[in-house]
Amino acid sequence: MTVQDTEFETLQQALKAHTGRFVDKKFDWHAFPSNDGFDELSRAQMRYIGAGGSPKVGDTSTLKPDHFTVSLIYKEPGKYAACHSHEIEESFLIIDGALIVGWEKDGEVCEVNLGPKDMILNAREIGHGFRVDGVEPVVMSISVDVGKPLPPVYHYHPKEHAPELARAFGAEPGKTIYFDPEGDHPLQKLMSKYVVRHSELATIWDDAGFTRKIYCGPGGVETDTCRKEMLGIPSRVGVKAFTRDVEDAFMVLEGSLTVGWEEDGEAVEVELGPRDLVKTPAGRPHWFRNNGAAAATVWYLVGSAEPEAVTFEAA
Ligand SMILES: [Fe+2]
Repeated sequence: MTVQDTEFETLQQALKAHTGRFVDKKFDWHAFPSNDGFDELSRAQMRYIGAGGSPKVGDTSTLKPDHFTVSLIYKEPGKYAACHSHEIEESFLIIDGALIVGWEKDGEVCEVNLGPKDMILNAREIGHGFRVDGVEPVVMSISVDVGKPLPPVYHYHPKEHAPELARAFGAEPGKTIYFDPEGDHPLQKLMSKYVVRHSELATIWDDAGFTRKIYCGPGGVETDTCRKEMLGIPSRVGVKAFTRDVEDAFMVLEGSLTVGWEEDGEAVEVELGPRDLVKTPAGRPHWFRNNGAAAATVWYLVGSAEPEAVTFEAA
């Protein structure tokens, strides 16, 4: 069931209800009605927190969002998403495969090719689309801020535009330029503030013994909604319980991670594997530990863009 404002009888039940298991979920091939009837636009969505841009806000298998949503998107080679914009920020974190993302302005499009662990934060009101040109399907994690969930505004949908133009996100032949952080074109300059290459992002060793790469928030892409980080947690490393005044969520990408909750001296825990998630509400003391032999890679979202207030302590 959806975690609304339910009272739970036990802490264990509460933690279980805030855990999204990959194997308990299904990919939904009809999450986006504007794609229906257009095979070239087909994609599947798996919802973890909120509806993530889908109108399926009544889905009872997804957690209630506070400041951000989390979903997975699956897209096969040759498929694309038509150029559109919305009034909310939206991040794409690539998990598998390679994804072309295009930003359009005045008939010109800047395209970037993103690989695993790369991210783009689609700025508010910027026309954006994406396409799988590679040989393998793409799995990515999308987060949008909860803000005003208005439907997207389509700029170049194949319903109204020629298929080739829609596939190029609105660029006529010769009007596509390519991502270059050193480039002089205004779209290149704008996009370079919102693209994160995992390999180019500084690796920060936290004093508690794990690594952090700051994707969004102070030290990463500028945003006023949520912080997003990738954590690298070595075997047998963990932290003492900490509390935030906003929610946070761990989504495991590689390895496994045990997340624990505490209340009045009671402690419960859950082990997460790849593509499992725990959302911890504001005010709940929680901790994490890697009990596995391999390092864990974890996508970490915090419902605030304010500077980090938690000092992690090794457990
Ligand atoms: Fe979008």
